[in-house]
Amino acid sequence: MGQLGAKVYILGIESSCDESGVALVKFDQDAATGLRAGTQSSATRLPQLLAHALHTQIEMHQPYGGVVPELASRDHIQRIIPLLNQVLTQSGVGIAQVDLVAYTKGPGLAGALLVGAGVAASLAASMNIPLLGVHHLEGHLLSPFLSEDPPSFPFVCLLVSGGHTQLMGVQSMGQYELLGESVDDAAGEAFDKSAKLLGLDYPGGAALSQLAVHGDPKAFSFPRPMLHSGRLDFSFAGLKTSVLTQIKKMTEKDIEACKTDLAASVQAAIVEVLVKKSIAALKQTQLKTLVVAGGVGANQTLREALLKACSQMGAKVFFPELSLCTDNGAMIAMAAAMRVQSGIEKGSKCYDFDVKPRWSLSDVVA
Ligand code: KG4
Ligand code: ZN
Repeated sequence: MGQLGAKVYILGIESSCDESGVALVKFDQDAATGLRAGTQSSATRLPQLLAHALHTQIEMHQPYGGVVPELASRDHIQRIIPLLNQVLTQSGVGIAQVDLVAYTKGPGLAGALLVGAGVAASLAASMNIPLLGVHHLEGHLLSPFLSEDPPSFPFVCLLVSGGHTQLMGVQSMGQYELLGESVDDAAGEAFDKSAKLLGLDYPGGAALSQLAVHGDPKAFSFPRPMLHSGRLDFSFAGLKTSVLTQIKKMTEKDIEACKTDLAASVQAAIVEVLVKKSIAALKQTQLKTLVVAGGVGANQTLREALLKACSQMGAKVFFPELSLCTDNGAMIAMAAAMRVQSGIEKGSKCYDFDVKPRWSLSDVVA
């Protein structure tokens, strides 16, 4: 991997929850990266995604109303190698050309993480190449760099996944400062729990947003907690209680008749808080670039509201490709490649892998 002018191939494996993902990215060893502080990234020099393959377990968990950890682990075991073969075939790159194997080290479900880590460590050991554990949220945070119109450092990142809602100040590759986060439920959880109350299948966020298209966002007034707190923290747990209280007051027939209005009103409450806090974070940091990442970033209403609010204040907003908002291997391969390319990390030939089910993004600051 050390030779100038060489192409570096990095394999990434994601298995933190209910998606198995494998991807291959490539970068030029001698490309000036622009990933360090005060420099601009150049799209042509960013690592390039060669192939990625994904298997979602959502259908398998749906009858249980949520992810069953043991089932998730067992399914990852069956999926990862076929996905790896798919990626190698699609990219036309031989396994012997791979220079480093990256895997999601955390946060996530311990058993599920161990599957990806075990496969990655075995592969790396068998080829005598370095192994690198990646932070799942860093993967999400950097996923917009996989899009056709990637952002430049520095920026504010709104990280909205199923398990996390955070606003991060991102100065450069590896330089992350937590500006605010949810004190209870994540935005994705608020979507999912509200969706469940409306009788929608797990995970429910996307289904709720589809219902909301036909509803009136002003029909019901749901709380916008901590909107005027002056802080960049969030709280979404009260929203679920408020939806439950509203539903209890209604007959089944009324709920059915008002389902789209309920969905639109829940979505409006979540989106308004996310947008106002993101704008406040831009103002506080005096940055003009917002990057959105994580599953809730696929929400069309959120995307449109952020585009409008950012353009009104002369800021620009960047999103991952829709298909890369939720968990995938591409973001893990990309995060590993950007860590290696910027000189933060080299990986290790020590194959004693470990996982971190609980892990703060602040711990991976370079
Ligand atoms: O980032 P992600 O795949 O998983 C975690 O790392 O947690 O995010 C999954 C979350 C789920 O809560 C799901 O309901 C939500 O993203 N989600 C959406 C949409 N698509 C996925 N929420 C709202 N609108 C959507 N279109
Ligand atoms: Zn995720």
